Amino acid sequence: MTDYSQFSSLYKLKPAERVALLVKQGVITSQEGDLLLKETPLPVNVADRMIESVIGTHQLPLGIATNFRINGRDLLVPMAIEEPSVVAAATNAAKLALPKGFTASSDDPIMTGQVQVVNVPNVAKAVKEIEGHKIELIAKANATNPMMITLGGGVKALRCRKLTKNMIVIDFDVDVRDAMGANTINTMAEAIALDLEKLSSGKVRLRIITNLADKRLSRASVEYDKNTIGEEVVDGVVDAYLFAYHDIYRACTHNKGIMNGIDPVVIATGNDWRAIEAGAHTYAAITGKYLPLTKWEKTKTGNLRGTIELPLALGLVGGATKTHPLAQIALKILGIKTAQELAQVVACVGLAQNFAALRALSTTGIQTGHMKLHAKNIAVIAGAENDEIEKVAEIIAKQKIVNVDAAKEALKEVREKAK
Ligand code: MEV
Repeated sequence: MTDYSQFSSLYKLKPAERVALLVKQGVITSQEGDLLLKETPLPVNVADRMIESVIGTHQLPLGIATNFRINGRDLLVPMAIEEPSVVAAATNAAKLALPKGFTASSDDPIMTGQVQVVNVPNVAKAVKEIEGHKIELIAKANATNPMMITLGGGVKALRCRKLTKNMIVIDFDVDVRDAMGANTINTMAEAIALDLEKLSSGKVRLRIITNLADKRLSRASVEYDKNTIGEEVVDGVVDAYLFAYHDIYRACTHNKGIMNGIDPVVIATGNDWRAIEAGAHTYAAITGKYLPLTKWEKTKTGNLRGTIELPLALGLVGGATKTHPLAQIALKILGIKTAQELAQVVACVGLAQNFAALRALSTTGIQTGHMKLHAKNIAVIAGAENDEIEKVAEIIAKQKIVNVDAAKEALKEVREKAK
């Protein structure tokens, strides 16, 4: 049994010690631990099979956010990201939500495919013909993926809409189970294209999934106790939310902060983060007005309640989730069994990240936290090594002069003292 309380001081350890703790707690095997610490966990020959014209691999830091309790279960969240402060902020926001933590839910994994038909001579007749042959069309689409049908997935609905005087679109919803769904849907769309041409007397153009997965929504909620975070933070976060609600310039950055939490988990698990980004921002504008993806309000007792809802088309099978060696380890660290569970975690991290940003922005500002980490990078650039990095970073962050010259001066000072 993994003892999650052992991870509360994870941030204080060195990378190899963190990995050793994961192994000791039975989260991963020692072979997986070795892979995590390898300089190139994704071998070039594997990368060469993933995309075209490979010349190497491009790496990101992989960290772990701790303190997440979701639907009563503790878990560790792997995050792949280059931006300082994000992992620390998620960890801290999750800690403040304890002991209750987050609650989350996800819809069935329903994705929608689209087939565009142009040059339709009689749109009304075409729509009627297609609607009248739904059963055959669905059967043909399902025949492309018998495995998915065995698992309880497959096409659940098919609709036909008029777009212009001679253009129609056929939308079909598919339960894709634990897949992200793009391959399944695109294969199905291509399989029914010829039949749709015949039924409509038109010409099929696009056959593709929509990334606006609005039938595959995930939701999360959290309540921060006013005695834990302070009344000023409750009011500050609500005001910050209202700013985003009433102003599109702020809504954009508000949602960027949410994606700061979401994308790293999506990337760590080998999922398609462009699809998630596209779906999230389109969903934010689904009412015709671009809105924040989270909502923050004061409860009757004065606590802060936050909620999030967005489409999350995430898979556990196929694509880089299977081919990238670290994606499998990330899923193992999360300890989740279904794509729906993964989506729930991701929604919670987005909510937590947003809380962390709004809390900092509405009180002390974000630069203090950023500067501490930025200072470490500058210290390294200035030539600091091992223990010197922390010491130099502390000096320049305290001075509030975080540049390479200041770091070089501080390094001299540190080395002088060490003599
Ligand atoms: C920076 O990466 C993200 C923030 O700008 C988000 C926000 O403003 O809410 C801090």
